[in-house]
Amino acid sequence: MSAKHFLQFKDFTRDEYEYLFARTRILKERLRRGELYRPLVGKTLAMIFEKTSTRTRVAFEAGMNQLGGHAMFLASKDTQLGRGEPIEDVARVIGRMCDIVMLRTYEQNIVDTFAAYSNAPVINALTNEYHPCQTLADIFTYIEHRGSIEGKTVAWIGDSNNISRTWMQASRIFNFKLKLASPKGYDMKVLDELDYSATFEQLRDPREAAEGADLVSTDVCVSMGYERESLQRRVDFLHYKVTTELMALAKPNAVFMHCLPAHRGEEVDPEVLDGPQSIVWDEAENRMHTQKALMEYLLLGRVNS
Ligand code: CP
Ligand code: NVA
Repeated sequence: MSAKHFLQFKDFTRDEYEYLFARTRILKERLRRGELYRPLVGKTLAMIFEKTSTRTRVAFEAGMNQLGGHAMFLASKDTQLGRGEPIEDVARVIGRMCDIVMLRTYEQNIVDTFAAYSNAPVINALTNEYHPCQTLADIFTYIEHRGSIEGKTVAWIGDSNNISRTWMQASRIFNFKLKLASPKGYDMKVLDELDYSATFEQLRDPREAAEGADLVSTDVCVSMGYERESLQRRVDFLHYKVTTELMALAKPNAVFMHCLPAHRGEEVDPEVLDGPQSIVWDEAENRMHTQKALMEYLLLGRVNS
C-alpha cells in the first residue's frame, strides 16, 4: 500500500515537522480570525477507539469538521473488531470507504498491521508504546512559548511510557536533551533500532533531571491498559511527583507540560499544574491545530493555500 502514515514520531523528518508547524500556525490564525478553510470537503476520517479519550477524539472530530470533512467515531466494541474480526480485514474495508483513519489501541503492532493493509493514511492516536500526535502538539507548544527547542533540556519525571518514549524519538530529530527520571524497574526500553545515546539520559533522581531544565513534564503512573499494576505503581512512583520544589530546580523561565488527563496530587501538585509555569491548556488546544495540519498533509501533501 502506498499511503503515507504517521505511526511513530520517527516516521517524519525534521523538515516535515518544520512544515507541519508552519502550517499549524497558519491554520490556527485562520481559525482565530473566523475564516472558513475547507480543503477536505467530502473526505471522511474514521476514528477507531479501543481505549477512552477526550482530547484526541475532540481534536480530530472538531478539526476535521473545521476542514470541511466528516469524522466517524467507531468504538471498537461496537464494531466487528470487538468480536474478533481480523485487523487486516477491517483495515482493508475501512481503507476502501474512508479517506484517512486514526486508531487508538493497545500494542503498536495493531496500528502497524492496520497501516500495512489500509489504502488510506493511518494515524497512531496512542498505543501502549507511542503517542506521536501528543508530542507533535507538545513540541509545537514549547516553540510557541519559548522558541526553538534545539539544544534545550527536557526533564521527564515518572514513567517510561508511550509519551516519554515518543519524546525520546523527538529528542533525536530536534536535537534536545531528554533527561528521564524513573524508579528502579521502570527504565526506558528502546523499541526501535535507533541510537539515542547523544540525546537521551536515563536517571533515577528526579532532582537531577529537573536541575537546569527548560521544560519539565510528567504523566500518570498508571497508563490505560496497565490498571492491574495500579497498586504497585502507586507505591513505586510515590517520589516521582512534580512539586513546586522540583520546579524551582529548573530554569526560572522553565515551562511545565502534561499531556492530560492529570491526577492532581499524584504525579503533579495542583500548585504546578494550575500555576504560572504551566502551559497545559495551550498544549491541549494545540492538539487540534497540529492534527489539522497533519490530516491536511497526509491527504493533500504540501500546500501553499
Ligand atoms: N492526551 C490525550 O491523548 O488525551 P485523551 O486521552 O483525552 O485523548
Ligand atoms: N500514558 C497515558 C497517556 C494518556 C493520554 C496512557 O497511555 O494512558
